[in-house]
Amino acid sequence: MSNHHPSAGAPYVHPGATVPTRKPVTLHRLRAMREAGENVAILTAYDASSAALLDAAGVDCLLVGDSLGMVVQGRDSTLPVTMEHMVYHTTCVARARGAAWLIADLPFGSYHESVEQAVRNAATLMRAGAQMVKLEGGGWTAPIVRALVERGIPVCAHLGLTPQSVHALGGYRIQGRDAPAAAQLRAHARELDDAGATMLVLELMPSNLAADVSTEFSGITIGIGAGRRTHGQVLVLNDMLALTPGAKPRFVRNFMAGASSIADAVSTYVRDVKSGAFPDESLHGYEA
Ligand code: KIV
Repeated sequence: MSNHHPSAGAPYVHPGATVPTRKPVTLHRLRAMREAGENVAILTAYDASSAALLDAAGVDCLLVGDSLGMVVQGRDSTLPVTMEHMVYHTTCVARARGAAWLIADLPFGSYHESVEQAVRNAATLMRAGAQMVKLEGGGWTAPIVRALVERGIPVCAHLGLTPQSVHALGGYRIQGRDAPAAAQLRAHARELDDAGATMLVLELMPSNLAADVSTEFSGITIGIGAGRRTHGQVLVLNDMLALTPGAKPRFVRNFMAGASSIADAVSTYVRDVKSGAFPDESLHGYEA
């Protein structure tokens, strides 16, 4: 039987006993990182022990992504994820968080009905311990972003391949490849910026497009399969640890290859995002 008592082996630290070893990451700090040209390193986290490990390895932000529907629950998309699931996992991660900034996804259907519904569900995630909520899509989401920001809820937007729209997009395909699609994506990014989104995930798009959006967007852009000229990177933890079965997407690097432990793999990820060594566009990037 494995011994899972916290005192039996580090690194899980009970929140009441946490002694911060680095300054808490704040919105102010994230903006300063952009100004200073320091890349922001983000990974997904769904449970307390991985959150504690990621935090100790220096990950800047933890994302309780609705990718948990696929990598934790074994679904074939993120669509079945509910608010109840997100609150549960956000609470687990928040208990173990030390200095990292905590972002939680608003799941499919939790902000689609009205601004009021979005505010109510975002507030629920904030009460569960999130410091910022993430929502997918552009255009129709701008009024929602504005309402959340006006009510003191920091927002991360998400453009490009937005997995909650996988059926409308015809699969997990690269977005913004032709000129009209790229122009629309840039217009959506400008609207989200005007609405007050401070962070913007850019998923699965040509590197040049992500670079253009990153120049135009006043906040912090975070790429995943979008090249290296964003202000930071995010990966699904299970993907970069090669825990996810099946072929890995081109934009993922297996950080366990050559690593002595999970902590070592995560530290390498943070180091390589900070230095710009990950992603290598020739291996992990896409052209228009
Ligand atoms: O749900 C998630 O993990 C995400 C990231 C892939 C950006 O949205």
